[in-house]
Amino acid sequence: MSENKPAGAPASRVTVPRLLRMKQSGERIAMVTAYDATFARMIDEGGADILLVGDSLGMVVQGLDTTLPVTVDEMVYHCRAVSRGARRALVVGDMPFLSAQITPEEALRNAGRFLSEGGAHAVKLEGGRSAAPTVRRLVDAGIPVMGHVGLLPQSVHAMGGFRVQGKTEDAAARILDDAHAIAEAGAFSVVLEGVPSDLAAQVTRELGVPTIGIGAGPECDGQVLVCYDLLGLTPDLKPKFAELYAEGRDAVARYCSEVRAGSFPSEEHGFGKVKREESADAPEPPARTGYGPQA
Ligand code: KIV
Repeated sequence: MSENKPAGAPASRVTVPRLLRMKQSGERIAMVTAYDATFARMIDEGGADILLVGDSLGMVVQGLDTTLPVTVDEMVYHCRAVSRGARRALVVGDMPFLSAQITPEEALRNAGRFLSEGGAHAVKLEGGRSAAPTVRRLVDAGIPVMGHVGLLPQSVHAMGGFRVQGKTEDAAARILDDAHAIAEAGAFSVVLEGVPSDLAAQVTRELGVPTIGIGAGPECDGQVLVCYDLLGLTPDLKPKFAELYAEGRDAVARYCSEVRAGSFPSEEHGFGKVKREESADAPEPPARTGYGPQA
């Protein structure tokens, strides 16, 4: 974070122009997905520059096999929660399947909801050259747009599964062209998902806006991870940074056995006894039964 404030001062919000300056100065961009206020607050405090409210929430939160059934209403709801938890990071809302593909006007109406109702600062949409007129329409209306090319989860059926894209010379040339078209249409950044590292490096060299990679090698201007994967909450994925799934499961197992043994809650976790006459006027401490962060 090169634009840090002195210790103790609130960190200033990451903005679109600041992300462009980060590309120019070679400062890497860290983006992480978030879907609710508590995770948003934790990831923001951890220093992520961008919080992406990804439609991946269909898979990690809703338990779906693909992102296709996720709706604009659901995305806006999660954006509202995330933007309440984010203090410093730029919040980007992901436009779900068919919310940006039908007409640029419909895309504009949907994108506007992410900003006006969801509190997001920008939107992301999947697609290459064919999505460029939509990107232009949104940008002209003052909505910052992040593009997304390469492996497109919303096109999972057309791609025949979640497969690495751009492996032949022709396919790589199409992805390069897609990235250029989206950047020329005014996108402030482009996600490169599931493409060979040398292709991602070439796109990164050629574009004037930052590339954010996921499964695209180390030479992008930034990286993005789904927070459940980063935190080790995805059971089948080898965790690298944390193992919260195993820790959470073990914590629940300890809780269950203490409840069954009658050792939780103990007196210290309770709220004492009914007030009898002599203590009836004593001030009451606030009751905290849980429910996450509270002011
Ligand atoms: O939906 C999502 O989380 C995404 C990222 C993985 C880029 O699109």
